[in-house]
Amino acid sequence: MKEKLEQLQAEAFEKIQSASELSQLEEVRIRMLGKKGALTEMLRSMGSLSAEQRPLAGKQVNEVKVYIENALADKKNDLEEKALASRLDNEFIDITLPGKKPESGTLHPITKITLEIQEIFASIGFSVAEGPEIDFAKYNFDYLNTPENHPSRGLNDTFYISEDVLLRTQTSPVQIRTMLKNKPPIKIISPGKVYRKDEIDATHSPLFNQMEGLIVDKGITMSDLKGSLEYFAKSLFGENTKTKFRHHQFYFTEPGAEMDATCPKCDGKGCRVCSNTGWIEILGCGMLHPNIMEICGISHLEYSGYAFGMGIDRIAMIKYGLEDLRLIYDNDKMFLGQFIGR
Ligand code: DAH
Repeated sequence: MKEKLEQLQAEAFEKIQSASELSQLEEVRIRMLGKKGALTEMLRSMGSLSAEQRPLAGKQVNEVKVYIENALADKKNDLEEKALASRLDNEFIDITLPGKKPESGTLHPITKITLEIQEIFASIGFSVAEGPEIDFAKYNFDYLNTPENHPSRGLNDTFYISEDVLLRTQTSPVQIRTMLKNKPPIKIISPGKVYRKDEIDATHSPLFNQMEGLIVDKGITMSDLKGSLEYFAKSLFGENTKTKFRHHQFYFTEPGAEMDATCPKCDGKGCRVCSNTGWIEILGCGMLHPNIMEICGISHLEYSGYAFGMGIDRIAMIKYGLEDLRLIYDNDKMFLGQFIGR
């Protein structure tokens, strides 16, 4: 038996030493120490030995067992260390490779121009007020002095939710809401989405953006209106920009006007953008109509004010030289990617 043990030990030793993979070690373990392994069988056959022989034989088998177990563990350690060393040798970071630039988002042109316009008005004391996109017809039309039979009230022009509730067609109802809630002095601008039943084309969309402005205080005059809006045009389009005011009727202003600015593309010389006129219409404006001040509970004898409203999309098209409004809403990544930073 001793001979057999020595032979098994030698065999196991050799197999373990020559193993180059963990699976080979496992094979040795099963062959020697597994349920049907050679040593296990020998331990099992102890029963047939005499009582004097048994302790010595048991001890010898156990010694070989421990020897093989230790040899397996040592070799396993060895193989694992080698595997780790070779992985560390092969896997390394080549810091000379060009890096991958993280993709950064950009502001949407409408957001960008809105922020820019807001900043200009903030610099002369206007704060931002908001109003709902779903509003009462009375705020969108009645309180704004719109005649009962005016076509803009019709189902062809306006999205109604019920008889009295609609998608606002302009940001002007924010004027009404602000005057109903606050006492003068009032000095706000209000950007937001508005809705009209327009067919989509290069200059129209059923959803677009407007910015409203309103100021109410003692002694506000037409020259305040002109001064502020001229300052706005110069800040947005450049110091050399000139403005002119043409009379225009809005039901909620008296008098009302439209402001044109010299075309920023050609500096007023005349080009395709301004249809060779040198001028571009920028916004509607006017002194607050006494009627709407009274409706809102503000005395037109004590106070006066002016208001203005502009299409933000239109201004973005002028400022960024866009020929088709649909570009703004298509969300093409190549197009939007141009509007980096502020
Ligand atoms: N709400 C008008 C529109 O959608 C724009 C406008 C014109 C607003 C004159 C005003 C204003 O506040 O005074 O066409």
